[in-house]
Amino acid sequence: MRFEIIRTENYEKMSLFAAQKMITKVKENPRSVLGLATGNTPVGLYKYLILDYKTTGTSYKEVRTVNLDEYIGLDRDNKNSYFTFMRKRLFNHIDVKLHHTSIPNGVAPNLEEETVRYDKYIQKIGGIDIQILGIGHNGHIGFNEPGTSFKSRTHVVTLAESTRNANARYFNNIDEVPTHAVTMGIQSIMDSKEIILLASGTSKAEVIKRLVYGEITEEFPASVLRSHKKATIIADQAALQLI
Ligand code: PGA
Repeated sequence: MRFEIIRTENYEKMSLFAAQKMITKVKENPRSVLGLATGNTPVGLYKYLILDYKTTGTSYKEVRTVNLDEYIGLDRDNKNSYFTFMRKRLFNHIDVKLHHTSIPNGVAPNLEEETVRYDKYIQKIGGIDIQILGIGHNGHIGFNEPGTSFKSRTHVVTLAESTRNANARYFNNIDEVPTHAVTMGIQSIMDSKEIILLASGTSKAEVIKRLVYGEITEEFPASVLRSHKKATIIADQAALQLI
């Protein structure tokens, strides 16, 4: 096992630790490319980035961001789109230029072209310096569900039923949860120079155990991170209780 594990007492400390790593990266290289994630887990990290921006003035003017994924078929201003999530949770509160932020376009007229464009864009801006990931209960990273090739680039996916059920909490009912998404591929994620996987809470304990001790297999997408040269798990004690 090659990745480093940082164990924190609770969610707040996990978020603060991850924020400090990102802030250090941005200070070292103000033109950093940050890979960002949605979901509940990174919300605290974004909160601490905003707090730091407001109190110490770390600037994101030259930073570029790329997000992991987006639902297909939700307008960008839909309250559940990841486009809206990122603006509300982070972009509207720091000095990043909105045209330097990028999220796959889930309403692109030609989704195949969109996936190719997205990978090319990431390459054009020099690749991802540090990528934040959450982890699904089935081991997905981004929306790369079990069975996705480790060689995959950005692509269109059919969401697993378990993923749709997990995300239904944000929608009025399960029928409103999109069935498809565009996600950065596993190879696209692995090309990042550094990766931080965040996990919090008892519900992630089993999946973190499998990540740390289980086999490296496409049936458990996050396991690929064990072959990354610079991947760190930052997780709270509840998520690490079986480690
Ligand atoms: P969560 O989602 O942060 O809301 O638990 C993680 C994921 O599904 O990747």
